[in-house]
Amino acid sequence: MVPVPVFRFFLASGLWGRLFLAALLATCLASPAQTADQAWLRYPSSGRTLVPRTIRALGPGQLEQSAVQELKRCLGDLSGASLTARAVAALAGQTIVGTVDEVRKAFPNLPVPADLEPEGYWLYWQGSGDQTLLVIVGADEPGILYGTFALLRPHDIGSDPAQYGFLGHPLRSHPAFPIRWVDEWDNPDGSIERGYAGRSIFFEGGEVRKDLVPVAEYARLLASVGINGCNINNVNAAPQLLDRDHLKQIARIADAMRPWGVHLAMSVAIASPQAIGGLPTYDPLDPGVKAWWAAKTKEIYDLIPDFAGFTVKADSEGQPGPASFGRTPADAANTLASALAPHGGVVLYRAFVYNHHLDWRNPKADRARAAYDIFHPLDGQFLPNVVVQTKEGPIDFQAREPVSPLFAGLQNTSQALEVQITQEYTGQQRHLVYLGGKWSGILNFDLSANNQSTPVKEILSGRSFHRPLGGMIGVAGIGRDSWLGSPLALANLYAFGRLAWNPNLDPAEIAAEWTRQTISTDPDVVTTVTKMLMQSWPTYEAYTGPLGMQTLTDITGSHYGPNIESSERNGWGQWHNADPAGVGMDRTIATGTGFTAQYPPELAEIYENPATTPDDLLLFFHHVPYTFMLHSGKTVIQHIYDSHYDGAVLAAHFVDEWAKLKPRLDPQLYEDVLARLEYQAGHAIVWRDAIVQYFLKLSGIPDAQGRAGHFPGRLEAEDAHLTGYQVIDVIPWEDASGGKAVSCGEPQNAIGGNSQALYQGTTSVAQQMGQNQARVLAPAGTKACAAEWIWSGAPGHYDIAVQYFDLRGGAAKFRLLVNGQPVANWAADANLPSTRPNGDNSTRRTVPNLALNPGDTIRVEGTPDGSDPAALDYIELTPVASEPAAVLNQ
Ligand code: GCU
Repeated sequence: MVPVPVFRFFLASGLWGRLFLAALLATCLASPAQTADQAWLRYPSSGRTLVPRTIRALGPGQLEQSAVQELKRCLGDLSGASLTARAVAALAGQTIVGTVDEVRKAFPNLPVPADLEPEGYWLYWQGSGDQTLLVIVGADEPGILYGTFALLRPHDIGSDPAQYGFLGHPLRSHPAFPIRWVDEWDNPDGSIERGYAGRSIFFEGGEVRKDLVPVAEYARLLASVGINGCNINNVNAAPQLLDRDHLKQIARIADAMRPWGVHLAMSVAIASPQAIGGLPTYDPLDPGVKAWWAAKTKEIYDLIPDFAGFTVKADSEGQPGPASFGRTPADAANTLASALAPHGGVVLYRAFVYNHHLDWRNPKADRARAAYDIFHPLDGQFLPNVVVQTKEGPIDFQAREPVSPLFAGLQNTSQALEVQITQEYTGQQRHLVYLGGKWSGILNFDLSANNQSTPVKEILSGRSFHRPLGGMIGVAGIGRDSWLGSPLALANLYAFGRLAWNPNLDPAEIAAEWTRQTISTDPDVVTTVTKMLMQSWPTYEAYTGPLGMQTLTDITGSHYGPNIESSERNGWGQWHNADPAGVGMDRTIATGTGFTAQYPPELAEIYENPATTPDDLLLFFHHVPYTFMLHSGKTVIQHIYDSHYDGAVLAAHFVDEWAKLKPRLDPQLYEDVLARLEYQAGHAIVWRDAIVQYFLKLSGIPDAQGRAGHFPGRLEAEDAHLTGYQVIDVIPWEDASGGKAVSCGEPQNAIGGNSQALYQGTTSVAQQMGQNQARVLAPAGTKACAAEWIWSGAPGHYDIAVQYFDLRGGAAKFRLLVNGQPVANWAADANLPSTRPNGDNSTRRTVPNLALNPGDTIRVEGTPDGSDPAALDYIELTPVASEPAAVLNQ
């Protein structure tokens, strides 16, 4: 079926025409010197596409002008370039951009297709030399822009259109889904919920920022991968953004994005009519409330005629919603949809609705059930311009979850898939985790609804259930720090756009395409970086939470480091139910929560039975003994051990792979990424040790390979000769080697108190954590503390790893000395979560290749700073590879 464009109402209404003049002006204003990272659009370094140099738009439209501007920008200044004869020939003739209608009129003899799909394009090339004609034809104006970026995408310096492969073979494409949006969770004060790349490009201090050049540059990036909407504010929405003054400011953001065809959308709080409208209620069925939304929506469209629509989070995690009045999500969604319909806007109503005060003692309680239980009965009740926006899995962006059954459960409702580009639960951009493979797997996952093939991508495109709308939403979290903070993380933004355009693309090819444009066209670089990207998600899963256990992270806090019991015995419902006998959440119909029944029968049957459930989801669906045998032939407990050790090895391998590329890379990029990968390799060990220690203690079953609980070469800080340092219990205990560390200046009870009990059964770990977080670490001035060991192992050369805690609120200093000689010093100044020593901030610094003889002293000095008490966990000595294996003293 032909997808109906989301924006058909205003595209047809001629509003664009009225915006042309403003558009041309805005284009000029939006093209001053770039201020932000050009990401994958840095043409000079990634290669120029050579198109005929006489470039012309057939129409006056704003997006056509942007297309011309982009083509010229890509060609750049060729005056000094030494061009081959072939390249010179490629530059001759003319490049024409226009809509189907415009091109037909100007070139009646061209075989322009009559059936281009909305937002689609057709690229055609004919003739040679002066007679060359390259046409970029869009079904509509966005199509022209997308065709232009497609043309500029994959080519190398010196290439010419004859090599593009479409000489005589026109290239055409159109997006799979009409809705392709990024959601930004930005707050008016400039902070970003779950953002890891600095502050908002939209807001600061409660107002829209004066400088919106980065917004225009971001919109250009988005357009280059086909994204057509940007929801600019947090789903936990601040109602004041809907007041007139803020809307006027927000209209400037829409102006900045408009030249790139990116439509502005906003998250709205359902309580707004009461919160800022002065009404006595926000009941969505109240006539006054309906009138308020209609008037407010009209006010928005008067300011932003191409406004895309509203995103709604309601009755979820403390957000007010229709449930307060006994109304349903359909009631609320339809009130907003009615207000938007006359203007052509849509409502993205999030299915992320659940009770976060579940009774953890009730074995039938299950947060995973919530979205389906609430939304499935409402199927068919939503107005046509409502789209239900569902997270990929039934919980919350975990490294691995089953695909949400709701996609098959709404057959009379348009649907969008929500994924996270910002790496909330996947390493927060400090870890390399490319998500292209994960998303591609979800999009291609066949839910087999109605006993037919219904892959998620076809549900979203509307094909499976004959729906008019649908799409893919990426929670982006971009900020002022190079968009996503980490250079390689940008591959995720790129992959999101490419997959939302074409879910059939191979994620490895997307990774290679991104690498070529962003890092280097050198084939070795492309091969290695693509391999690293593709391995990164399974690697992260392996050293964090394998077998579908979901997150084992600090779930009530940072969502970053390990904290296994934090998800247990609280109402948030992300329980993994680990106990001394087994692990996993029983979600079967037979003995569990019945969640498996939400899937179409074929899948329900597979997930109901542990023998047929895929290993990587086993513990999501079943509570099994540690000795349960996986399809791989390993027991569950052995898999837990192995995957964490293997994952940490793979993370270390990324450092080696990257290091090999040094001569081929930009030095600054090389150093930046190297530091990140080294950090990740260290943090993978923190994860490995936490989880392995925990499950070894809980299960009592040893690691068949003898690794768990044995740390060759590790010397604990608490066993050292301490000067000034005091021994503390780290909470949770699994986040430190042996559960203990040393801290400079403060007595144990002021920092950590009692050690965390293992499987206490009735004690809420979250409560303990709450108490801990209230504690303030007060260091003892700037006086250094020291931990010292006498080396009694074999003589030789060793790498010495120092494991310390890099707390927020100060930059403690560390020094490593051998026989009194300083061999390294550094500041603990990384920006990591938490003000208490734990797995969020446990950090490894490795000093390579130090000569040691028995009797030598190894000393670590830590100087507190601010509230960072230079806490230290252990040192670990590894013989340098070329040395004969040494037996180390423990
Ligand atoms: C996660 C995330 C929250 C966010 C929520 C949502 O729970 O941690 O910060 O508000 O998802 O998607 O609404």
